[in-house]
Amino acid sequence: VDSFPKDFGPFDGRVWLNCAHQGALPRAAVAAAHVALELKISPQRIRDDLFETVPRRLREALGRLIGVPAEEIILGNSASYGLHLLAHGIPWRAGDEVIVVEDDFLANLLPWLGLASRGVRVRAVRPRRGTIHAEELARELGPATKLFCASWVHSFTGYAADLEALGQCCRTAGVRFVLNVSQALGARRLLVAQASVDAITCCGSKWLCGPYATGFCWVRPDFLESLECRQAYWLADRLATELAQVSGAEPRVPRGPRAYDVFGTANFLNFMPWTAAVEYLLDCGIEAVERHDEELVSRLVAGLEERGYALVSPRAGGSRSTLIVASHPRPERNPEIEERLRHRGFDVALRRGNLRFSPHLYNAVEEVDRVLEALEAAVL
Ligand SMILES: Cc1ncc(COP(=O)(O)O)c(C=O)c1O
Repeated sequence: VDSFPKDFGPFDGRVWLNCAHQGALPRAAVAAAHVALELKISPQRIRDDLFETVPRRLREALGRLIGVPAEEIILGNSASYGLHLLAHGIPWRAGDEVIVVEDDFLANLLPWLGLASRGVRVRAVRPRRGTIHAEELARELGPATKLFCASWVHSFTGYAADLEALGQCCRTAGVRFVLNVSQALGARRLLVAQASVDAITCCGSKWLCGPYATGFCWVRPDFLESLECRQAYWLADRLATELAQVSGAEPRVPRGPRAYDVFGTANFLNFMPWTAAVEYLLDCGIEAVERHDEELVSRLVAGLEERGYALVSPRAGGSRSTLIVASHPRPERNPEIEERLRHRGFDVALRRGNLRFSPHLYNAVEEVDRVLEALEAAVL
């Protein structure tokens, strides 16, 4: 566990505590990025089979991560990608309703709002505390509700939703449960087959430590079957190697999860390092990463409380995540504190006027101690 930070960096002497914005690329992934770059410097090295093996290896790693067969993984370029596939693929009827969480990250709201012209209504539910609870959701689901979309971990409060309770609630009401796991997957374990979710979507650049503009989604097979596929990519159902052999072949319309992949599915520069990053996390073991992150977060929470900071995030328990949001007792001082921390070499985020700390496996315990000391100095 202690060796995790050695697999990353260098960080130029700074302490990066903003994984909720961007995770750092592990060294193994940097090496893979160099290989990808060399392919393009010398294109004669780009063998046809790489168009097949590069996405396949990524699918295999992501499938292992969430416990599904590799073929069920849909490759994307963001968390938004998966949400838009659903928004455009579900056979809506005028009057259908989508429920979202008020103040959720914008990516979870915009795809559904675009459906207004088709008569789909979007209703935002205001959670009492940080994230929506199953009893609150149950009161909101009505006969017109077709889908509920939420984040596993809320970007601005750090609250983790109770997936089991929310999923059961949706299942009982016959409502599809779509979950954005961008702020959690990689830092905590999720086996989707066991969770009551119908689809998950995730960006790759945060807790999965991949490059920006990566992402994937998974859609429960019976839900996928019900979608109308509105795209057909020439490489989705055809091996690049076939192109050299087959002449005048009949066009085939791709089917199944592959039909939904983002175009340019062998995105070498992004997908090769991302695959290496996910494989690295799998080699570390997500449970070990979770334990390491938990230690960082526990220390941080205790230190913030000792110093009189008010926690916006939960202080303990299952609803606490690796995003810790806190405020100085005088919230108007938060922007200045963030700036002073930055000048001292500590990168945290200022979100909605609060300080957000999001450490991950590349952070060492002593870095948490140092940011707490710096926090004290910053307010003097
Ligand atoms: C919950 C959540 N979803 C998604 C994203 C990113 O969205 P996308 O990958 O669609 O750009 C973020 C943060 O940037 C986020 O906090």
